[in-house]
Amino acid sequence: MPHIHYLPDDRAIEIEDDDIILEASLRSGIPHTHVCGGSARCSTCRVLIVEGLEFCSPRTSPEVELAKKLRLEPEVRLACQTQIAGGKVTLRRLAIDSEDLEIFNSQMAGKSTANPVGKEKKIAILFSDIRGFTPFAESLLPYDVIYVLNRYFQKMGYVINRNGGIINNYMGDGFMALFGLENPEKAAHQAVRAGIEMLEEIEKLNPYFETLYNHRLRIGIGVHCGWAVVGNLGATQSQTVTAIGDAVNLASRIESANKKVGTNFLISEETYEEVKELAIVNRRVLVKIPGKSGEYPLYEVVGMPPLPVEIEEVSEVKTSNIWQDFVNKIRALYIAVRNWMRNWWS
Ligand code: FES
Repeated sequence: MPHIHYLPDDRAIEIEDDDIILEASLRSGIPHTHVCGGSARCSTCRVLIVEGLEFCSPRTSPEVELAKKLRLEPEVRLACQTQIAGGKVTLRRLAIDSEDLEIFNSQMAGKSTANPVGKEKKIAILFSDIRGFTPFAESLLPYDVIYVLNRYFQKMGYVINRNGGIINNYMGDGFMALFGLENPEKAAHQAVRAGIEMLEEIEKLNPYFETLYNHRLRIGIGVHCGWAVVGNLGATQSQTVTAIGDAVNLASRIESANKKVGTNFLISEETYEEVKELAIVNRRVLVKIPGKSGEYPLYEVVGMPPLPVEIEEVSEVKTSNIWQDFVNKIRALYIAVRNWMRNWWS
């Protein structure tokens, strides 16, 4: 019967032929970290095969991919992807200290099977930032800075929440909000609508800030939809939901691109594809985004009808195109007025 000998615990267990290492560990109560829940997406379950590599199954294709990305030696294997048959294997778990153990215990919470800490989800990510806030804050007393920020975050929090999102991270005068954690279908619409409402809300707040501080706030917003790992992050006693992945980084870079382009609200092409029936877009711009090759298309959004009533109405009337005709007329009117204003000023 095959055996696994664990280091540094110096503990041996008997297993069935073709048992998967991670499953055998968890069944026997051996703390074995497995952040992605055993789907070859994290590498935290990795083990060093000290003896008996010949009894280990060949790498599965997800493991091959991950091993290539992380440049893993042949002896380093993912416990969630490796079966053992016919002999004794000695291995060393690579995530083993007491802090790993604490994470492991909260992850398992009474379960004996693999349980992911995070989950890959398609979501919409919104980043926002107040333009030129540092010099403005330097002209204020610290209490006033806190007051202005709290007032601003409070209003924006309402906007995000009533459109189905949550603010999950504050970064100085900026924040990140996630949409579609429960239902990804409307995530893009919700995030874009929230962006438009934020711009409207800041216009309502500005007379107040002008009276008090002789200053108007201006914000930049970026939205991108894509796959990210959503999970709890932070010390066990104060964890918050967050999202991590390329999609998040891209959303942040889209927000920053507003400064280069001179816009307030930009969305990615992926987001545009999902909202183009409803969103009123002023222009498409090509921008160099760090980490992306070539120029990346972004769309400046200037309008979006409220949710959710209109979205449902659209699905009913879409076949007759009444709503689309209406949106096209509004868009044409907007462009005509804008052009007239430009000519008038020049
Ligand atoms: S790769 Fe994540 S648990 Fe194995």
